[in-house]
Amino acid sequence: MNELRDEFTDSTPGPFSLGADTHVVILTGAGISAESGLATFRGQGGLWEGHRVEEVASPRAFSRDPRCVWRFYNARRTALKAVEPNAAHRALVSLERYIKDGNFTLITQNVDDLHQRAGSRNILPMHGELVKIRCTECNHLEENRDDLDDFPRCSCGALLRPHIVWFGEMPFYMETIASRMRELDVFIAIGTSGAVYPAAGLVEQAKRSGARTVWINPDEPPFEFSWDEFYRGPAATVVPTLVSRWTGKSV
Ligand code: OAD
Repeated sequence: MNELRDEFTDSTPGPFSLGADTHVVILTGAGISAESGLATFRGQGGLWEGHRVEEVASPRAFSRDPRCVWRFYNARRTALKAVEPNAAHRALVSLERYIKDGNFTLITQNVDDLHQRAGSRNILPMHGELVKIRCTECNHLEENRDDLDDFPRCSCGALLRPHIVWFGEMPFYMETIASRMRELDVFIAIGTSGAVYPAAGLVEQAKRSGARTVWINPDEPPFEFSWDEFYRGPAATVVPTLVSRWTGKSV
């Protein structure tokens, strides 16, 4: 790994070059939305404060107390209305436009819609989306940005649930992710603690595919040996600067 232990500045050297033909896979986590005002999971003021994870984010919790689970996700959805994409979300849109069609994949663990609102297109929200709900029986899926009753129901009569991957459930898009992880040149993780699998295991797949691996975060990465480059700092500062260097355009 490079020796970039100091806070990232305009004069930080690097990074490697990245052309329009490069196959890029980005993995984002809660840290990319921190400067928009959304709390991360594992930091101070974490999202789960006041709620034990198993009270709100598991199929068991939902069958035991759907009201509590719905209230939690209604509050999360309401919080989204007060925040906006930040410079890091926007810079990734510029990067996506610069890279040749089909070569750019944005995998996000975030259930907020800030990447989508910024304009990202090739996005795989592997842990689900707060602004979607689905039926527990017929799998009807719809977008919803409004507050919902404690027991919202589908037209088929069954309970609706948040379109969120709960503990013990399989993340979405795993086959697509596996295929993108076989043909990449560069893997860039932004604002994730690398604590939750299978997302945390993607860097190993990237290494096996021979890709260059890049960690952008104020904190050092777990499994240091897995990363070729480390840019230390907040996403809304580091990502636009790196994207400007790659694309040759100010973002
Ligand atoms: P975490 O809360 O585990 O990690 C957030 C990361 O963001 C930490 O490494 C922080 O150092 C970093 N961070 C904080 N501020 C930042 C900033 N301004 N810029 C860049 N990075 C910053 O969040 P995730 O890794 O996303 O899963 O958590 C992964 C999964 O754990 C979540 O998707 C969620 C949770 O269980 C599900 O709900 C299924």
